[in-house]
Amino acid sequence: MKKKILVTGGTGYIGSHTTVELINAGYEVVIIDNLSNSNREVIDGIEAITGVRPAFVEGDCTDIATLRNLFTSHPGIAGIINFAASKAVGESVQKPLLYYRNNLVTLMNLLELMPEFGVRGIVFSSSCTVYGEPDKNPIDETAPIKAATSPYGNTKQISEEIIEDYIASGAPIKSIILRYFNPIGAHPSALIGELPVGVPQNLVPYLTQTAAGIREQLTVFGNDYSTPDGSCIRDYIDIIDLARAHVIAMTRMLDGADTDAVEIFNLGTGRGLSVLELINSFEAATGVKVPYRIGERREGDIEKIWADPKKANEVLGWKAEVPVEDTMRNAWAWQQRLGQSL
Ligand code: NAD
Ligand code: UD1
Repeated sequence: MKKKILVTGGTGYIGSHTTVELINAGYEVVIIDNLSNSNREVIDGIEAITGVRPAFVEGDCTDIATLRNLFTSHPGIAGIINFAASKAVGESVQKPLLYYRNNLVTLMNLLELMPEFGVRGIVFSSSCTVYGEPDKNPIDETAPIKAATSPYGNTKQISEEIIEDYIASGAPIKSIILRYFNPIGAHPSALIGELPVGVPQNLVPYLTQTAAGIREQLTVFGNDYSTPDGSCIRDYIDIIDLARAHVIAMTRMLDGADTDAVEIFNLGTGRGLSVLELINSFEAATGVKVPYRIGERREGDIEKIWADPKKANEVLGWKAEVPVEDTMRNAWAWQQRLGQSL
């Protein structure tokens, strides 16, 4: 019988791509999402790609009664991947309680219900933001956690601690915490992708909207950093590579007998790319010019960070594989599918 996985936030960007990979790997998926940052048409995209329509519950994970109903009406859920969270860094500074409530109550509700419903493992979406500005790159999982610079970042640090404390207390569950670097791109079918609401804050959606003529010009936030071309460096990871890692993590938790109860992995490529290099790779891959100008630094930006993914490579047997040019073509195909509507 297929193992059943609950994907919270499953109509969102990373959740939808992960659902596709879970279905392709033979899992049955139940999605819960409150559609606060996504829409139900995403389910059609998942069905069009996989031929399977995942069960969908429209509901809010901060409401424990809703979750209890879900576990009762979908018995036998073996594992959870928890994507449901609010994720806009700037908004979290304006509305800290919304972020603490949504991100932390969601996690605590799920943890509390897991033993009651016999759910054995939870994969948690964390972020490289927990490292702050690294003392050295590439950065591995043993690097110190730095004071969070936003309530959003703080929710990720606190969530990691909540999971660790709960499991240390003897809760009969396992967890794999995944620290994502910068996820970008879309499914190669262009049937699902990232749906930015309003003016994008992140680089790739802003870049593709500029290439499409929706935005006049991309601003490169600073070219006077201490990097080879002066612009900031990040580790951009393809969304399909990222999604695949979740499937491997879930299988490891559910089927691996001797694994530690809590494990933490960096998910990155191990290669840092500057903002200017990323723009160049987009132009080379698509043949489309991106009008840009050099602007001021963005407050709070990290100068450079990229992952040491050795632990994930060796322990999970996972490696980022998609060349960045393919990722850029997929991001562009998705943008063209979205059209001028945003
Ligand atoms: P997203 O906003 O596209 O997806 C999150 C989904 O969760 C959305 O569909 C939203 O409607 C839903 N949701 C939010 N609160 C909910 C609630 N209380 N109940 C039910 N559904 C709820 O974001 P994403 O980029 O797919 O991110 C997924 C996870 O990965 C988040 O936890 C995010 O913090 C984390 N993460 C994302 C990035 C990134 O760059 N995208 C980087 C590091 C970590
Ligand atoms: C953002 C989040 C971080 C999250 C990470 C993962 C912030 C402050 N941080 O980080 O918490 O974990 O995503 O995806 O939002 N840039 C431009 N012009 C633009 C937009 C961005 O030059 O219009 C540059 C930025 O200065 C940065 C790079 O592009 O150097 C990437 O920016 P972005 O996509 O916002 O991601 P992060 O800042 O890495």
